[in-house]
Amino acid sequence: MEGAGRESDAALEARTERAADADAEARGVGGFPIPDNVYAETVTEVEHYTDRLFRFRTTRSQAFRFRSGEFAMIGLPNAERPVYRAYSMASPAWDETLEFFSIKVPDGPLTQHLQKIKPGDTVLMRKKPTGTLVLDALLPGSRLYLLSTGTGIAPFASIIRDPETYDKFEQVILTHTCRIPAELRYGEQLVAEMRDDPLVGELVEGRLHHYTSVTRDADFPRQGRITTLIENGKLFEDLGVPPLDPATDRVMICGSMAMLQDLKALCLARGFEEGANNKPGQFVVEKAFAD
Ligand code: A2P
Repeated sequence: MEGAGRESDAALEARTERAADADAEARGVGGFPIPDNVYAETVTEVEHYTDRLFRFRTTRSQAFRFRSGEFAMIGLPNAERPVYRAYSMASPAWDETLEFFSIKVPDGPLTQHLQKIKPGDTVLMRKKPTGTLVLDALLPGSRLYLLSTGTGIAPFASIIRDPETYDKFEQVILTHTCRIPAELRYGEQLVAEMRDDPLVGELVEGRLHHYTSVTRDADFPRQGRITTLIENGKLFEDLGVPPLDPATDRVMICGSMAMLQDLKALCLARGFEEGANNKPGQFVVEKAFAD
């Protein structure tokens, strides 16, 4: 009896363990359930640039499809009802993994936790991507301006890595303005890697222009907000191109709310019409901030 009892105890223990494993699989890290409408992706890489900015890469579920420039809702499996924020995919649509570029807000509902992620951690992503910063929302043109501040460069990191962009536009001008030079590093690294890549390098040679400026470090060679550099004509002078013209130029804008409002007004004042997915136009706008 004693022996049989021990045997059945062991079997019960094994069964309990198996049930616990299955339960753990259905629940996220930290014991919270993974909702049905999300992908649970694994973090593969994290790089911090400053105390305000970092980049991370994750696995990509095979079923997840998006257009370069779109965003998805990102969260963490750290609560029964996780907090989600909009994140542009910074990687292009063809890439097997996903890249994101994020702000860190000390007491931000999502980023106070997200900034601590490490390779192997789980990130939740709602299944449906969306967004207006897509080539489909623009009418044909010859010069594409991608105007960004801060983490607003993320959707453009996707677009400049998509060969379709160079099929549709002769010239691609990516502007990135930040407070200090260290905040420009993500974009600088990205463009340098593209230029060094044998295939991509050839495609973008003489066609992709990366134009950076800062507003809070007097030592950096190029100073000023992008709005100022457009208004005083320095952007066009430096690039050796004519001023903004709705006949030939298309514009995508991504940054803080104030930046979007000012650049939208600037485009409208120059005769540009705003586009959308169902009605392509001459410029498109999307906000880029999380907390
Ligand atoms: P500034 O330093 O003059 O505020 P942030 O990190 O706060 O989002 O800012 C990123 C960059 O965007 C900064 O260089 C900032 O300049 C600039 N910026 C802020 N507001 C505007 C605006 N309304 N139009 C254009 N650029 C802006």
